Amino acid sequence: MPREREIRSAPVNKQSFRPYPLPGKLESPPPTTQNPVFQTVNPSLEGLSEHQKERICGVPATCVVGLQWGDEAKGKIVDLLTGEHDIVVRYQGGANAGHTVVLGGEPFKLSLVPSGIFRPPVRCVIANGVVLHPGSLLEEIERLRCRGVQVEDNLLVSNRAHVIFPWHIEEDRLLEKAAGSEAIGTTLRGIGPCYRDKVGRSLAFRVGDLYQPNFRDRVRQAAQFKQRMLQCLSGEPIELDADAIYEQYRQYAEQLRRWVGDSTAYLLDAVEAQKRILFEGAQGALLDVDHGTFPYVTSSNSSGVGVSSGSGVPARYLTKIIGIIKAYSTRVGGGPFPTEQANEIGQYIRDRGNEYGTVTRRPRRCGWFDAVAVRYTARLSGVDVLAVMLLDVLSGLEELKVCTCYELDGQKTTNFPAHVDELWRAQPVYETLPGWKEDISHARRWEDLPANAQNYLRRISQLIGRPLEIISVGPDREQTIFIHSAIF
Ligand code: GDP
Ligand code: IMO
Ligand code: MG
Repeated sequence: MPREREIRSAPVNKQSFRPYPLPGKLESPPPTTQNPVFQTVNPSLEGLSEHQKERICGVPATCVVGLQWGDEAKGKIVDLLTGEHDIVVRYQGGANAGHTVVLGGEPFKLSLVPSGIFRPPVRCVIANGVVLHPGSLLEEIERLRCRGVQVEDNLLVSNRAHVIFPWHIEEDRLLEKAAGSEAIGTTLRGIGPCYRDKVGRSLAFRVGDLYQPNFRDRVRQAAQFKQRMLQCLSGEPIELDADAIYEQYRQYAEQLRRWVGDSTAYLLDAVEAQKRILFEGAQGALLDVDHGTFPYVTSSNSSGVGVSSGSGVPARYLTKIIGIIKAYSTRVGGGPFPTEQANEIGQYIRDRGNEYGTVTRRPRRCGWFDAVAVRYTARLSGVDVLAVMLLDVLSGLEELKVCTCYELDGQKTTNFPAHVDELWRAQPVYETLPGWKEDISHARRWEDLPANAQNYLRRISQLIGRPLEIISVGPDREQTIFIHSAIF
């Protein structure tokens, strides 16, 4: 019987293993029909059996992770790379995410369903690390189906994923209200409270719990407790109708049943069967609960560190991590943002980049590119290569600034501060680069970009210390430049 997975070309995995050429050099990749992982890790593997090679080299498992505060256009890249993979996995976050894929000029907005859904038979997995509101997921599936997108056996929802209940959403709202000017500015989707219950355990529900005989009793018990808690928070009477909530979630469970399964077992089987897996990060590494700009973060590990706990696939299987960055910076919600431009520059970027939240439509805060922050998150996430998105948005600016270090309490530093108070105090130190006037949305090759755009990209790559592999000059699939050798 032929092996599940032929050795085939997987160009996206090539560059992690290659020494990078000198600045400015462009070369085409050598034509190959063989998996470049095997060719480049150790050429002396040639005499080994396929099984031995696979044991040594592993399978190509790629992760796409945002390196800023989210909305770096991860959805576009995941959609583009899906064709090179068998499975696409969302492993953290929930419907706080809004990932856009533009197909033939038509935008599709995804919150929970992985961005690989447009290319069946690629299997899309919502893994254990996700928190989901079953009603939102069902609506999203319905919206996709109404637009002709196949959502059948190509979707799998983990029975270990945690479930968002109405009390989580109310708790999110009340806590944000109580925080006043210190509010995080959450998406009010109940994400934080659901993760809090996950870690707290006793009041948590996983998807698999919806099918247990004691589900009704557990909902009654939780609703009683949550009602008392919400009343304390709000100072007003609040009534949670446990039986109505139970009935609604029982119906959700029935509608979801066909998609629910053990995604951990499925993914472990898949890596061992040499399936190619693409992990789709949500949010961005600066929103990571452990490593981001705490407490102005989301409640999951949204940097590269979250892949393993959020999916059950050991980190050692990851062969390539692609860091997604905007050519500038944006942030939605509260918290420090050293390079923010709350002025006409910020407005110029917001207008040209249509920088309004995909989920909440809030105007995004906009600013210059922060190389201190991204160098930190690229290292933290183990990034191999960079995809620079929305470069076209910067066209027309006379000059561009890039933050190369912070001045903190009179000292220059390139370290990203751990404490939010330090980040509030950090003053960005900028380097100024010349801008370009040309519309670059038609550029399809590196050579099509104006020299100043090339310089800008080279400088960003150099400051982060990672090579560029993808440049995006518009939302469509076609508006993408793939660079076949690294550029510093
Ligand atoms: P995600 O959450 O990281 O997937 O990003 P969002 O979908 O929230 O935001 C990115 C936005 O930029 C979407 O509206 C995309 O359609 C759009 N977009 C993606 N790439 C480009 C690009 O290169 N240029 C422009 N102008 N827009 C882009
Ligand atoms: P994608 O995947 C941008 C932000 C919220 C808020 C903070 C906490 O589209 O990049 P939460 O509701 O998660 O408790 O809110 O995190 N946030 C995002 N910002 N893009 C996202 O997702 C985000 N998901 C959450 O605005 O500041
Ligand atoms: Mg988004």
